[in-house]
Amino acid sequence: MMSKRYTITAALPYTNGPIHIGHLAGVYVPADIYARYQRLQGKDVAFICGSDEHGVPITIKAKKEGVTPQDIVDKYHAIIKQSFLDFGISFDNYSRTTAKIHHDTASDFFKTLYDKGEFVEEVTEQLYDAEANQFLADRFVIGTCPKCGNEESYGDQCENCGTSHNATDLINPKSAITGATPTLKETKHWFLPLDKHEAFLKEWILVGHKKDWKSNVYGQCKSWIDDGLRPRAVTRDLDWGIPVPVEGGEGKVLYVWFDAPIGYISATKEWAEREGKDWEPYWKDENTKLLHFIGKDNIVFHCIIFPAMLKAEGSYILPNNVPANEFLNLEGNKLSTSKNWAVWLHEYLQEFPDKQDVLRYALTANAPETKDNDFTWKDFQARNNNELVAIFGNFINRVVVLTNKYYEGVVPQPNEFSAIDEETLATLKAFPAVIASSIERYRFREASQELMNLARLGNKYLADEEPWKVIKEDDARVQTIMYVALQIASALAILSEPFLPFTSKKLKDILCHSELVEASTWNSISEVLELLPANHTIGKAELLFTKIEDKDVQFQLDKLEASKKANEAAKKKVEPQKDEITFDDFSKLDIRVGTILEATKMPKTKKLLVLKVDTGFDTRTIVSGIAESFSPEEVIGKKVTVLVNLAPRVLRGVESQGMILMTEDESGNLMFVSPDEHDKVSNGLSIS
Ligand code: 2FM
Ligand code: ZN
Repeated sequence: MMSKRYTITAALPYTNGPIHIGHLAGVYVPADIYARYQRLQGKDVAFICGSDEHGVPITIKAKKEGVTPQDIVDKYHAIIKQSFLDFGISFDNYSRTTAKIHHDTASDFFKTLYDKGEFVEEVTEQLYDAEANQFLADRFVIGTCPKCGNEESYGDQCENCGTSHNATDLINPKSAITGATPTLKETKHWFLPLDKHEAFLKEWILVGHKKDWKSNVYGQCKSWIDDGLRPRAVTRDLDWGIPVPVEGGEGKVLYVWFDAPIGYISATKEWAEREGKDWEPYWKDENTKLLHFIGKDNIVFHCIIFPAMLKAEGSYILPNNVPANEFLNLEGNKLSTSKNWAVWLHEYLQEFPDKQDVLRYALTANAPETKDNDFTWKDFQARNNNELVAIFGNFINRVVVLTNKYYEGVVPQPNEFSAIDEETLATLKAFPAVIASSIERYRFREASQELMNLARLGNKYLADEEPWKVIKEDDARVQTIMYVALQIASALAILSEPFLPFTSKKLKDILCHSELVEASTWNSISEVLELLPANHTIGKAELLFTKIEDKDVQFQLDKLEASKKANEAAKKKVEPQKDEITFDDFSKLDIRVGTILEATKMPKTKKLLVLKVDTGFDTRTIVSGIAESFSPEEVIGKKVTVLVNLAPRVLRGVESQGMILMTEDESGNLMFVSPDEHDKVSNGLSIS
């Protein structure tokens, strides 16, 4: 039986930063195309998402900024939610995991599994930072990935190879809070015994979904199952999250990956309450299709762990499909928040205020569906200028302008159809099924190209039939041509809606769709004789798309170049710490505060200044390598720190009797270690 009800979820984004084009391309645009399409098919759709507001990265960010985790999530929840609205992502509900309804739902879910004996309770040794007095869960630890050797793997997951592991698996673990090497300390946790669900998962995925899941998704699941499934801890020793609601759970919270997918359920409940609906059929009726749109790093959680949780609970349906995408790169490099190598959605909108659909289209036409893909600004410009402007926009503009010019905006009565007209109308009628078939197989790139092919059909038809020439001798023929072209324009208005919702709306307005007696729908394109009947009046022409100039592209490339430069500067290696010295070694140093009385440049050198320094007990000459940073005039009178018992050395014929102590700021600028500089933070002494 064809499913009538769809529960479509899109990965809950972490709320520790704004979202960028990678998020949009990998998850939200495909999910939105799918949800919009199913609505147009008359299906009962719940399109669900929300902010993932727990987890260690949020607490790390809060610590760094000296604010509370709640401050962080409040700030980014608002920004992310707005970005989704701005880009037309048509969620039925966008919730958040700090909402009470979610805390209650996740807590109850945990209790149900606990009461059913679905967890294993175990005391294990976990990494502990004695300095910070804290267990080091997940991203609080950084170390070498046991699988690929990446030295900066997180405790829960390696971003290089995608493997997810336990913090204790890391080689050379270090605390992300203090940098200390953690010790092991015993603590009790609750584990979901995935091994117990192995037989079911094997049957359900490896047999049941071999054919209909994407090969990247199936392949990852198979490799997990083939490796053997082990129990996974679903609780953590943290203070940010949903408290573990059972005895012995004090001071512990649910693992963020336990609570986050339950967020889909809570968000559905919240929506149903608001709409006066019953939430349960969306999660419990076998006729509902449950679909999770995610990125590839989330596969194991949605295909193995969450289904095992749902199965263990017992009353839920399982996902029908998990169409995960690969990753999007930007101009040849991995998108990175920390390196600011990204196109942030809120910034894009400031720079291209009316071009949401252009980005949606460029990301769809180049979506990372089967492999990682690269976003380039050149490609973005080409998709806009050569396809949206030159094909889609150009066709619509011609049709609307000519209809207004020849017939004052009234759809003309067609006369006899030529063979080409018949063929064009027949081709037109085949498009809805072709595009639908691509969407239903999660091939959104292909679907977007079919949509453009329909615009191409229209463009070619007009170019071949040349109504602007024919009008001089055969008005009857032009009536037919314009009638056919208007049917194509109308179909474009309908079929573009999932991909280009803003353009679709604008085009429907231009064609005055809302005034049509018979509603034009996706399927009516193939069924009804005419979409825009003769005598229907359309509106005036308006440009759907405008050209993107080279300078706009260059501006974006310059921005990225600036990020690259800033990263390089930040990467400038900090000198590693020198070998340890004893206190005795240190106490041999006689360090005094002195005043520079005189300063001259050492002739024929770039770096050296010859200084006369009053040490408090004598006046002596010191040669110092600071001339590139300071002029003689600016150092005279300065109070400085002097190492006075350094053995004298002769430099360029001048005996230097001591040393001025200097330090560097983060950009490598020299600074005096001086009582005058007490308000500056120094990052280590260096000898000059
Ligand atoms: O990878 C992420 O951004 C996660 N916050 C996705 C969570 S998806 C779901 F389970 F909530
Ligand atoms: Zn790795």
